[in-house]
Amino acid sequence: MKFFIDTANLAQIEEAQKLGILDGVTTNPSLMAKEGIVGKETVLNHYKAICDIVDGDVSAEVIAVDFDGMVKEGEELASLHPQIVVKIPMIKEGLKAIKYFSEKNIKTNCTLIFSAGQALLAAKAGATYISPFIGRLDDISSSGMHLINEIKEIYNHYKFDTQILAASVRHTMHIIECAKLGVDVMTGPLSAITGLLKHPLTDSGLKTFLEDHKKSNAGN
Ligand code: G3P
Repeated sequence: MKFFIDTANLAQIEEAQKLGILDGVTTNPSLMAKEGIVGKETVLNHYKAICDIVDGDVSAEVIAVDFDGMVKEGEELASLHPQIVVKIPMIKEGLKAIKYFSEKNIKTNCTLIFSAGQALLAAKAGATYISPFIGRLDDISSSGMHLINEIKEIYNHYKFDTQILAASVRHTMHIIECAKLGVDVMTGPLSAITGLLKHPLTDSGLKTFLEDHKKSNAGN
């Protein structure tokens, strides 16, 4: 499973990259705003800065909600750097834009997927990735993992090339559950990724090893 980090924070992206397990980055307008990235030039430069840190795909979301606007913005984003993936919302105009970019071999990430039907449409339009928001479904007492299961079942039947990018991942168990289902990619915060490192028996075991080493080497 590929690990993407879901942030526009350069320090966190660098930290994840240094771990050696990072495969890409996803951003969205809220994450950009959180980092205070405003104004067209600043935004475009920020995407370039992210691409300079990581080796893999970097999702950059369009703001337009009409076909022409999405195409214009998406082409500009794609021309920034070969790692840019144009992130497009799952709406009617977005579906048309995904088809357009797919025919031009420009990678897309169809975002705000909350149903199997939406995932089916995005795959038929030729999306490179689809982003089902599992955390936001869990937030409203629906099951994010159930949706992932449904999409996997459908995609397996028809051998779509579209990759399932589990988004709105909030914690370690989301990551484990995605891996158990064979999800292609997950995107989550740095805390969820580094949370996988933690085990109290690792910490206590290491403490004992180091204490024993110190004792047996005392005086040497
Ligand atoms: O990038 C989209 C998605 O991952 C958002 O996550 O936590 O705001 O639901 P969240």
